Amino acid sequence: MIVLGIETSCDETAAAICQDGIIKASVLSSQSIHNLYGGVVPEVASREHERLLNAIVSETFVKANINKADVDGIAVTHGPGLAGALLTGVSFAKGLGLGLGIPVIPINHLEAHIYANFMADPTLEYPFVCLLVSGGHTQIWLIKELGNYILMGETRDDAAGEAFDKGARILGLGYPGGPEIEKLSKDGNSDKVPFPKALMEKESLEFSFSGLKTSLLYYMDSFTENEHVSKPDVAASYEKAIVSTLVEKVKRAVRQSGVKTCVIAGGVAANQSLRILLKQTLMDTKILFPDLQFCTDNAAMIAFLGEIKFKNNYKNDLSFAIYPNLKLA
Ligand code: KG4
Ligand code: ZN
Repeated sequence: MIVLGIETSCDETAAAICQDGIIKASVLSSQSIHNLYGGVVPEVASREHERLLNAIVSETFVKANINKADVDGIAVTHGPGLAGALLTGVSFAKGLGLGLGIPVIPINHLEAHIYANFMADPTLEYPFVCLLVSGGHTQIWLIKELGNYILMGETRDDAAGEAFDKGARILGLGYPGGPEIEKLSKDGNSDKVPFPKALMEKESLEFSFSGLKTSLLYYMDSFTENEHVSKPDVAASYEKAIVSTLVEKVKRAVRQSGVKTCVIAGGVAANQSLRILLKQTLMDTKILFPDLQFCTDNAAMIAFLGEIKFKNNYKNDLSFAIYPNLKLA
């Protein structure tokens, strides 16, 4: 089976083709225009998707060496995400599906992040614990089987990716903030600044990152213009506060669930300190991450999950809507 995937939920315009579980091509354009504003501007994102999508899809077909006429179905992100951005992808997918006379399936972006782990390891077995850490979400899920997900804990305020992005902005770094803070942290001492960690009381699986961001702001404000502050030390300490909190909660979730496999999903899964600390902390748990290129937003994961769903008795119905606040369960 050949599935075309389309992803336009935020600021990546992306298309990919999956054939029988194998990614044949994955093309992505990160909208660097948002760097000018220090964050994603929704209207600008929609306009960029509209401008770029046709060329990205065409390039995907060329790279995969597959004809449009050979595609069996189209998978497209219909939430969560920015309304205008989602609409561009969904409208494009429906039009293309109608033109080619093939079915179109709506895909939950969060579910696709999780299933990117099956791309990394097709032998992955249910049940497993999943730490979902992206720009908008920080949640721990118990994944029992396809479509059967139980929420174990989530953030009360900012997501971990958001904490990286806001922290980077305070430190005068670029967007997205996660990779910027990670890069700067490499030369820093992570024990230099004792940033607070919230909701660490026994057994809690909830997160809160808004206080951390505020303490970074106060910390930076406490220096006068002439005083030297080591940004690498601050970045490394800030990263450690986020990463060690995530790892502690995952450790609890694994213990509480009794499940021996844990996967990480979403953009923050690309963070090397998180990967290393999780492996060091949960030595007797199978820990899985998607390939680096498939941690952050991409259409390969959309095409991949689309194929799985098409094979699960999917009925074509083009009346599906976009859901900016779509939940996983
Ligand atoms: O999954 P994603 O690409 O988009 C959403 O669905 O939100 O996640 C983006 C988030 C951003 O907040 C970004 O700063 C963060 O993932 N991120 C990272 C890294 N790469 C991306 N955070 C920490 N370390 C990284 N290497
Ligand atoms: Zn995402």
